[in-house]
Amino acid sequence: MESLERYGHGGDRWTAGERFGREAGSFLDFSANINPLGPPTGVLDILRRIWNDPECSTLSRYPDPAARSLRSALAGRLGVDPEQVLIGNGGAELIDLLHSAARPRRVGVIHPSFAEYEAAARKRGQEIVPLKTEWDRAFLPERKALLAWIREVDLAWVGHPNNPTGTRIPFEDLVAAAEEATRRGTVLAVDEAFLDFLPPGEEISLLPRLEEFPTTILFRSMTKFYAIPGLRLGYAVAAPEWIRKLAEWQIPWSVNGVAQEAGTAALGDREFEEQTRSWLAEERPALARGLASLPGVDVLPGEANYLLLRVAENVGGPIPSRWLQRELGERGIMIRDGSTYPGLDGRYVRVAVRGRKENRRLLSAMEDALFRAGRVGS
Ligand SMILES: Cc1ncc(COP(=O)(O)O)c(C=O)c1O
Repeated sequence: MESLERYGHGGDRWTAGERFGREAGSFLDFSANINPLGPPTGVLDILRRIWNDPECSTLSRYPDPAARSLRSALAGRLGVDPEQVLIGNGGAELIDLLHSAARPRRVGVIHPSFAEYEAAARKRGQEIVPLKTEWDRAFLPERKALLAWIREVDLAWVGHPNNPTGTRIPFEDLVAAAEEATRRGTVLAVDEAFLDFLPPGEEISLLPRLEEFPTTILFRSMTKFYAIPGLRLGYAVAAPEWIRKLAEWQIPWSVNGVAQEAGTAALGDREFEEQTRSWLAEERPALARGLASLPGVDVLPGEANYLLLRVAENVGGPIPSRWLQRELGERGIMIRDGSTYPGLDGRYVRVAVRGRKENRRLLSAMEDALFRAGRVGS
């Protein structure tokens, strides 16, 4: 049986429905990393207002082509000029646009990392220069290798924290990478799609130092943290010159009016942010402990709202990740098959952190599956 990532990503409950003969809506989804506390109430209020508007003004008019209101709310929140922000139809749109705007000949991609960096390069015939990393170093490159790689490419992608590992390059190394990229004229694209889930801190993002690093571009997603992947919303932050170049490639009205209004409402909800971070501070370690207690399962200690697991070789067959995905799929649970990431193999799976009850359901389903495969108990 093939893996569920037929279209390259987790969260495909329709494929799961076809495979396992269940309603698409009935799966408990650990394969996409969406905040289980969301969407925030402010977003739901906006959607109700749009729904109840007798004039249907958000739906029956074109959206603001420059997403002015959301853009300036975001700029205010981030402490940058609105000219430094571009809103996109999800972070995925902006990742793709960069490959048109920067026209790199050689694209650096860390293995393993989010598939869209490589997909955007491939589509345009841009050469991929992988930087291989290992489990024993938490899939983080050594600084020397990182800088050598930056020198070799025109565009380098760094996940911060990285997906699917949940780990991030030490801040000093990230700064060194940005310095090297600035010196060499390499574009350093830092994907901070999951950064909002981490406790805020001074040395967490290059955002306050963008002026020093004019070739660094930050990419963020609002779909995971605010739980609106169905609406689509992301943004890029960089020097105004880069933002203009990206915008030239964007399709008009790519960010719909509902998403623009919902995004502005989401930003105002500080309580939601705090609740999310305290949920994660409690549930990720609890889930990690539960998973690590299953024989044959190693857990990579990551910082994000998901965990990368390594399953012992040959559990359930030659591709344990696919076997486990099927076993859990039959029990109504979706997980991410890590073998679909370049740089990982059939020993790896990724699971999202969800609410306590759901995490327990995952743990008991995994225990049950592994028990049947003869890995747990005697
Ligand atoms: C690392 C990373 N970056 C960007 C994205 C794009 O997210 P979206 O387009 O939903 O904002 C994803 C989605 O899974 C991701 O995992």
